[in-house]
Amino acid sequence: MATNITWHAGLTRQERSELRKQKGCTVWFTGLSASGKSTIATALEQHLLKQGLQTYRLDGDNVRFGLNKDLGFSPQDRVENIRRIAEVAKLFADSTTIALTSFISPYKADRQVARDLHADTKNTDSPLPFIEVFIDVPIEEAEKRDPKGLYKKAKAGEIKEFTGISAPYEAPENPEVHIHSEKTSVEEAVVIITKYLEEKGLLK
Ligand code: PPS
Repeated sequence: MATNITWHAGLTRQERSELRKQKGCTVWFTGLSASGKSTIATALEQHLLKQGLQTYRLDGDNVRFGLNKDLGFSPQDRVENIRRIAEVAKLFADSTTIALTSFISPYKADRQVARDLHADTKNTDSPLPFIEVFIDVPIEEAEKRDPKGLYKKAKAGEIKEFTGISAPYEAPENPEVHIHSEKTSVEEAVVIITKYLEEKGLLK
């Protein structure tokens, strides 16, 4: 724990926003492995970039190659994984970037921590919008897709604590956006999320 530290207030987000002509927010994808989180988030990233908006995607697998390479999949490690991602997403959002996060984030409490962190105005001029997007897929469908062969391995006992098989996934009750990925194409999902962001005034 660091002591003798003082928060340095530089530009306000309002000032950054006016100069950059963009508001920041975090779009928090959650869902089972193979639900389509990363695919939809990537398509959304591309769509927003084509509109000239600044956006960046933080992805579960990828972040575990660097920032979170010390973390595994125990409940405690998943808590820390999500805490760090929430802090990083908040920095991106505070910079007026549209942060897209695609992590299983299986625990409700952790997603709430991420939401609360964005709402906290202790060291900033205004709360940051946090949009939870639930990519909902029946576990049977996720198992059928199994693009990385992980469900097969988990069922064979080769992967311990695998979400949906031997570790829990707590579905969101009131996500801002709920997408049933077995009935919705990637393109449709992008339209739904973009429409939501537009309606909230987050794309200007
Ligand atoms: S979490 O639960 O939010 O901390 O997980 P996340 O950081 O999103 O990482 C999920 C990706 O890691 C791979 N993987 C596992 N997932 C779940 N449980 C276990 N035990 C596990 N082991 C490895 C898997 O590729 C996940 O990627 P996605 O894109 O979700 O399929």
